[in-house]
Amino acid sequence: MAKRVPQPTTPPRERAFLVGVDLRGQESFLPLEDSLTELALLADTAGLDVVGEMIQRLDRPNPDTLIGSGKVQELKALVEETLAQVVIFDDELNPRHQRELEEALGQNVRLLDRTALILDIFAQHAHSSEGILQVELAQYEYYLPRLTRRWTHLARQAGGGGGRAGSVGGVGLRGPGETQLEVDRRQIRSRIAHLKRELEKVRAHRQRYRLQRKRSRLPVLALVGYTNAGKSTLINRLAHSDVYVADQLFATLDPTTRRLKLPGGYQALITDTVGFIQKLPTTLVAAFRATLEEIADADLLLHVVDISHPNALQQANAVHSTLEEIEAGHIPVLTVLNKIDLLSDPAVARRAVENFPNAVAISARTGEGLPDLLGSIQRILYETYQSITVRLPYQEGQLISLFHEFGQVERIEHERGGVRMQGRIPGRLAAQFAPWRYVPAENVTEQDDLEEEV
Ligand code: GTP
Repeated sequence: MAKRVPQPTTPPRERAFLVGVDLRGQESFLPLEDSLTELALLADTAGLDVVGEMIQRLDRPNPDTLIGSGKVQELKALVEETLAQVVIFDDELNPRHQRELEEALGQNVRLLDRTALILDIFAQHAHSSEGILQVELAQYEYYLPRLTRRWTHLARQAGGGGGRAGSVGGVGLRGPGETQLEVDRRQIRSRIAHLKRELEKVRAHRQRYRLQRKRSRLPVLALVGYTNAGKSTLINRLAHSDVYVADQLFATLDPTTRRLKLPGGYQALITDTVGFIQKLPTTLVAAFRATLEEIADADLLLHVVDISHPNALQQANAVHSTLEEIEAGHIPVLTVLNKIDLLSDPAVARRAVENFPNAVAISARTGEGLPDLLGSIQRILYETYQSITVRLPYQEGQLISLFHEFGQVERIEHERGGVRMQGRIPGRLAAQFAPWRYVPAENVTEQDDLEEEV
């Protein structure tokens, strides 16, 4: 598959105006002001200069324009005053909002929401063929229902059979006209179908590779964390590798796997993953399923938290929610509180470590705390054993022999279709056995229970 060259956001930088909406009663991870600060950082990463912002607190959204009609006029005036070329909403705009707001703001202003902006950043940072396919698919799926005359440049690229969907720095905002719309939609749908087929092929390949890796029996660690927490810096330090590090959001999009040496001559594989962010729409999470599968398949998660960030706790919570969403909640987590070199008071790190069930404080930049981190990983994976009872169908023969080989079997009972095993297993195997844990259910005979699973 040919590797496509990412389109850079071309200078001079465009001027962007931000809009935040505070809906009463709507639960949010961050206070609106902090969310807008993050949006400004995202805009900067996408190559835009923020020239102003506006906030509206609302009881309920306006069905046409999200913000009230008076606010739309105020926004239009502010955009003219600041010479903004792009308006970015912090919340997702539905297709109707998009249409009405575009109409109100006029031809010369481009309208984006947080999702479109993140997609654009992803497009700039995807490098592997899989990453590029994922981003392109997510972009087309996002833009298809929002397609208006202004977005027909997407269709032209799609028709060309290979260009990625539009970018913030894209050109050609005016399309050939309304009648072209249906043709454009059809072309985009067929491009989406093509991308899905291509992605399936890549996924099948990745699956085979993962199985091979499993057979190598080395435990796999996945680095997870809020964007910019320092995951790539840490993997570079730990595995002496050279993963791209930048003070930008989402510098890493494609997973990279390295070998890690642990104390006592032990080894593990360590893989970097895409950074998480609050308000990451579920559709986007779904688009990155393959990348995220790397996480769901890990034996231990290293959750990197930028402890110097004022919203460290909220960011950690956003990561936890995403982990639940991608069904990785069963994997053991070691929390890595990073950037302690930026703390003026070391007591902050000590207190923070106590707030997490399993945490170490480090600086990936200076190397402080890294021996502790490696020691903790080694202990969790190789020294700590946990008691477990599992019911394994005979098809899971590989797990049955793993238990015998590396665990301490205390009791084993053969039942119809499988075995029930009780004993102790090392931490590195806990995640693999977690889906088979035996939980006695009330009102269900144990026999029925296993038969259902088998
Ligand atoms: P994404 O790719 O967005 O997910 O980011 P990431 O989590 O991989 O972060 P990355 O390693 O790219 O680091 C982000 C920024 O934080 C870079 O400027 C790093 O140099 C900086 N950084 C990382 N670790 C530390 C640290 O321990 N101390 C300090 N002071 N800066 C750090």
